[in-house]
Order: sequence, then C-alpha cells, then structure tokens
Amino acid sequence: SSEQKLQLVRERIRAFSDFPSPGVCFRDISPLLKDPAAFCAAIDLMEDHLRKTYSQIDVIAGLDSRGFLFGPALAQRLGIGFILIRKKGKLPGATESVSYSLEYGKAELEIQTDAVDPKQKVVIIDDLIATGGSLWAACTLLKKLNAEILECLVLIELKSLEGARKVAPYQLYSLLHYD
Ligand code: PRP
Ligand code: ADE
Repeated sequence: SSEQKLQLVRERIRAFSDFPSPGVCFRDISPLLKDPAAFCAAIDLMEDHLRKTYSQIDVIAGLDSRGFLFGPALAQRLGIGFILIRKKGKLPGATESVSYSLEYGKAELEIQTDAVDPKQKVVIIDDLIATGGSLWAACTLLKKLNAEILECLVLIELKSLEGARKVAPYQLYSLLHYD
C-alpha cells in the first residue's frame, strides 16, 4: 500500500546533527538511494501523486544536484522529458540566472533559455525543501521562460523553515515532513 511505501522511504532517511554547519540537522538520502526497493517506492509515490493530480505535464525540471537523482527516473515513468536547473557556470549557451540564499549559504542557479517553450507545463523537483530559497530561484527561472509551473515536488519538507511560504503562490507537495 502507499502507507507501506511511505514507511519504507521514511526508514531510509537518516539525520546528522551539525552538518554542514552548527545548528543544521542534515537529512541524508544515501540509504534510500542504496536500497532499490525503497527508491522505487519513492518514485512510485511521486508518480501516483502526479498522475492523480494533473491531466497533462510536459516536462520535469530538476535542481542541481540532488533533484537530478529523482527527476529523470520520474520523467521516464511519465514518458516525458527532464530539464536541468544547474548551479552557476555549468550550462553552455544562452542562459538565465538568479541568485538566492539557502539554509546553509548562498548560490546562483541557471537554466538554458531553450530548456522549455512558453506555456509548457512544468513540475519542479528536488530532494528537500528547507528555506525554499533554491525552489524559489527555480520558479523564478521558469517564470522568466514563461513556463506554466504546476508545482514544486520534494521528497522531504523541513516544516519549521516555512519553505512553502517562500515558493507561494506555487503549490508545494512533499512525501515526508520533519519539524
Ligand atoms: C540542498 C538541497 C536543496 C536545497 C534546500 O542543495 O538538495 O536543493 O539545499 O535548501 P533551501 O530550501 O534552503 O534552498 P544544495 O544547494 O546543498 O546542493 P546539492 O544538492 O548539490 O547538495
Ligand atoms: N539542504 C538544505 N538544508 C538541508 C538539510 N537540513 N538536510 C539536507 N539537505 C539540506
């Protein structure tokens, strides 16, 4: 059942206190990736959610780097394409960029200007939302390209950092949450 799948996924996330800096509780997805049944369960749950929520999705956009672990698997399930939202300086050709802050620092994200066509329906995926700075930056990039953002989808939401407010008015869907 989906409750059993969710339980399996939950059991494969571990926490490290004070990484990468004091006060941060780092949620590590390595055990999930190492267990094919648990990883499959995570992708199943994301696929089920998207299939029952949207009649059409044109593309999945993933965030550098942990969004790249889930996005292509999910896009293959749905029979649609995957596009890259990368850290600054990694993408050739014409790009749009935006700088942002995240739970433990600052960075800049980029997208190729031909990554999506105007009006294409996009789901943005990442492993985790903390402050929401990274997903907010991804939404800003896709907006610049006039894409239609359906939602932000994450495996893990850190509720107390209120990332859902940061990405509003866009919808946020998470499989697991922690305080
Ligand atoms: C982590 C995580 C999210 C982001 C969440 O990525 O994978 O992308 O931080 O934090 P926020 O909601 O406060 O923006 P990170 O930038 O550490 O890069 P990585 O995926 O390459 O490890
Ligand atoms: N990215 C930002 N905050 C994080 C956290 N607490 N655990 C894992 N990845 C993160």
